[in-house]
Amino acid sequence: MAKATTTMIVCLSLLRVAMAATYSVTDYGAEADGQTDSTKAFLAAWSSACGAAGPATIYVPAGRFLVGQATTFQGPCNNSAITILVHGTLVAPAGYTSAVNWLLFKYVDGVSILGGTIDGRGQAFWACKDAGRSCPQGATVIDYA
Ligand SMILES: *[C@@H]1O[C@H](CO)[C@@H](O)[C@H](O)[C@H]1NC(C)=O
Repeated sequence: MAKATTTMIVCLSLLRVAMAATYSVTDYGAEADGQTDSTKAFLAAWSSACGAAGPATIYVPAGRFLVGQATTFQGPCNNSAITILVHGTLVAPAGYTSAVNWLLFKYVDGVSILGGTIDGRGQAFWACKDAGRSCPQGATVIDYA
C-alpha cells in the first residue's frame, strides 16, 4: 500500500516536471492595448510561476503590454526553471527615466526570456539584476529564441 502510494507520487512528480505549468498574463488581467498598466497582472503571473513546484512558463501573448517602472520579479522561487515566453511587446511607461531600472529580477535563478520585443521608448531600458544566466543585457530587442 505504502509502496503503491510512493510510486504514484514519484510518477506525478515526473509528470509535473515534464509539463511545465503555463501562466498567461492575460489570465491575470493584463491588457494588450499598450495603455493599461499591466504590472499587477505580470506580478501575479510571476507569483504563480515562482510558487510552482516545477518548471513554469509565463506567457505573454501578442499585443502591447505596458509594464511599470522598476517592476521587480522577486525570488527565491520554488523552482529554478521559469521561462518568460513573449510573443507580444513589452512597453515601458512613458517618461520613465533610464536611471531607474525597468524590469528587475531579484534572487532568482534560471529565468529565461524567449522571443518578444521590448519597446523602451527610446531610453536605455533593460536591466536584469541579480538574476540567472539567461538574462539579456542592454538589448533593445530580444529575439534570440
Ligand atoms: C513554495 O511552496 C510552498 C508549499 O507549497 C508554499 O507554501 C510557498 O508559498 C511557495 N513559495 C513561493 C515563493 O510561492
